[in-house]
Amino acid sequence: MVKLAPSVLAADFSRLGELVAVVEKAGADRVHIDVMDGHFVPNLSMGAVVVKGLRPVTRLPLEVHLMVEDPGKFLDGFLAAGADTILFHLEVVPQPLQLIARVKAAGKKVGLAFNPDLPVGRIQPYLTAIDVALCMTVFPGFGGQAFLPGSLDRIAELRAMIDAANPACDLEIDGGVDLTTAGPALAAGANVLVAGTAVFGHPGGPAVAVEKFLALPTR
Ligand code: DX5
Ligand code: ZN
Repeated sequence: MVKLAPSVLAADFSRLGELVAVVEKAGADRVHIDVMDGHFVPNLSMGAVVVKGLRPVTRLPLEVHLMVEDPGKFLDGFLAAGADTILFHLEVVPQPLQLIARVKAAGKKVGLAFNPDLPVGRIQPYLTAIDVALCMTVFPGFGGQAFLPGSLDRIAELRAMIDAANPACDLEIDGGVDLTTAGPALAAGANVLVAGTAVFGHPGGPAVAVEKFLALPTR
């Protein structure tokens, strides 16, 4: 079964709570919250206050994607705000085991994200310690970008590593995931899809988009 993580980065922020309720009702698996600091990525997005605001309006897990230079600095704030899963980038925490342990000590889920120019093998040593491996399919910073060619090979390579080391670990992808790119990505081994524009920008509305994603065949 496909797991869909709508990214609120693409949502109308004047209706955020209402839209999260819509995707929850339609069957989304989790809410993906893209946090950007303007340093690790060339954009500034949102902080823990958005997690705090969404916490009371949804029962879905709140998954925080920290695209920030110093994730450890922000961790306690997002945990206090009600985050269920913390994803941070291997590029900025080359020795991630301590930060992974901090998230787990708080009883929350943890994942490592990595950009399209980082060799997939760099995450292999940590697969047994994490709940989510987030394979970026764009260079992060903005929604609405195109799914990068070459991503399918990376997904297949990561799938083989996860199946060998920790089959319970999610293989999540993020960036340019829509109803066209999702099928091949699922076939290559992804099992969790982050989608912002394709959900909140769908002409039929987010509920229709979620239903279409959930109807896609998995491996
Ligand atoms: C990094 C962000 C985006 C967002 C998804 O830029 O993580 O990838 O979640 O954006 P869409 O689905 O609109 O490409
Ligand atoms: Zn993201």
